[in-house]
Amino acid sequence: MSEKLLVKQALNSESERPGVVIEGWVRTRRDSKGFSFLEINDGSSLASLQAIADVGIPGYDTIHQMTTGAAIRLEGDLVESPGKQKWELRATSICLLGGSPDSYPLQKKGHSPEFLRSIAHLRPRTNLYGAILRTRSKLAAAVHRFFLAHDFVWVHTPLITASDCEGAGEMFRVTTLDPLDPGNKSFDNDFFGKAAYLTVSGQLEAETFACALGRVYTFGPTFRAENSNTTRHAAEFWMIEPEMAFCDLHGDMVIAEDFIKFLIRDMLESNQEDMAFFNKFVDKTLLSRLQHVLDTPFVRCSYTEAIDILLQSGKKFEYPVSWGINLQSEHERYLTEEHFKSPVIVYNYPKSIKPFYMRLNDDGKTVTAMDVLVPGIGEIIGGSQREERLDVLINHMKEQGLKEEDYWWYIDLRRFGSVPHAGFGAGFERLIMFMTGVANIRDVLPYPRTPRNCDF
Ligand code: 4AD
Ligand code: MG
Repeated sequence: MSEKLLVKQALNSESERPGVVIEGWVRTRRDSKGFSFLEINDGSSLASLQAIADVGIPGYDTIHQMTTGAAIRLEGDLVESPGKQKWELRATSICLLGGSPDSYPLQKKGHSPEFLRSIAHLRPRTNLYGAILRTRSKLAAAVHRFFLAHDFVWVHTPLITASDCEGAGEMFRVTTLDPLDPGNKSFDNDFFGKAAYLTVSGQLEAETFACALGRVYTFGPTFRAENSNTTRHAAEFWMIEPEMAFCDLHGDMVIAEDFIKFLIRDMLESNQEDMAFFNKFVDKTLLSRLQHVLDTPFVRCSYTEAIDILLQSGKKFEYPVSWGINLQSEHERYLTEEHFKSPVIVYNYPKSIKPFYMRLNDDGKTVTAMDVLVPGIGEIIGGSQREERLDVLINHMKEQGLKEEDYWWYIDLRRFGSVPHAGFGAGFERLIMFMTGVANIRDVLPYPRTPRNCDF
């Protein structure tokens, strides 16, 4: 029996190997006198394997059906190649598994991202999307490695919830009631007997686990019904949320910076082929920018200082700057790309623009929020130290119109063994965009969900 090899294993082989099997899709085929050249890709690597099939080998009679996109199996010998690659496959037999007629939409190279989004089920077969998906998987594994190495426990927070963590009211409703039935006037008959939603953040539940296990993190899908048609917002995205007991805002910033740098280092070391591809075809400044971020201590800048910098910049922003505004993407990018030319952690934001759970500072008007801003993206992480003082928390909730009885379990954490604690949320797709240089969030999600778009 011949040994089955992935294309990646064949390309990285240490020696010639007789009698191997390769299965994959045809990228190109060229027929010459007496033989055919085939480029085979099976998704295991960016590079394809070149194969040579001589006229007359078993299966050669179907060669004309082995067109771009067709699935085939080859058996043969891995031998040294006179061409660019080290190895090529000399086929001894060839077999058509699934043909691919002319209607295959990926015949030629160089399709627009818009067109490729309309065939999201086929685009993983292109070089770019294959590389993005492999990188997504490796980055997810690196996220887990980072937290497990720092003694965090991975907790699974619910996707269906009754509380609005961010208080922004951007939640998708979960219901078994027919929304078109005018008879449905209350949630009494609904599945949960109350209003329920898809989670916008696992933070509140993560806090309960942090106040038991010390250091925890969540990593899973999150949903936001915000009507933002930007290149950085999706309705369904993945978020990584560490939460640490006995930790203040400073400790939170240290972990956030370590986390980003760990991921960059990991990508540069263990994802070289795909990273070189992104640097060549997506963003020629990618590798130098990542190296720069890795080598630079993140600047720390209070919100009040940031507003002063923006006011003194002499730049005309679309959204006017004044103390109390929510920083917009243009402001964030000015700070990180033009002013500091490095990642920036902006902290101590006005209380009025942040959620109820953030710790109130002694000035009475700011809270211990922090956002990590990186060049090319803007906000990649948002976090805070949490309010651990029972009376201050309850006051803050009242001010924001939240009912104590809806959050009784959350408030209990401040009743029984309350401790300073902190955490943050990192948008996984924004991390992928940062690591790959891909400019649109729709292209780092396998099946992006955005306003008026839920295909596939
Ligand atoms: O800043 P956000 O809203 O913070 C929270 O949800 C906190 N509960 C996190 C915490 O402290 N545990 O979201 C965190 C991050 C953002 O910095 C951004 O990277 C990403 O999540 N994010 C989105 N990514 C894609 N599409 C969206 N619509 C996003 N909204 C937030
Ligand atoms: Mg935020």
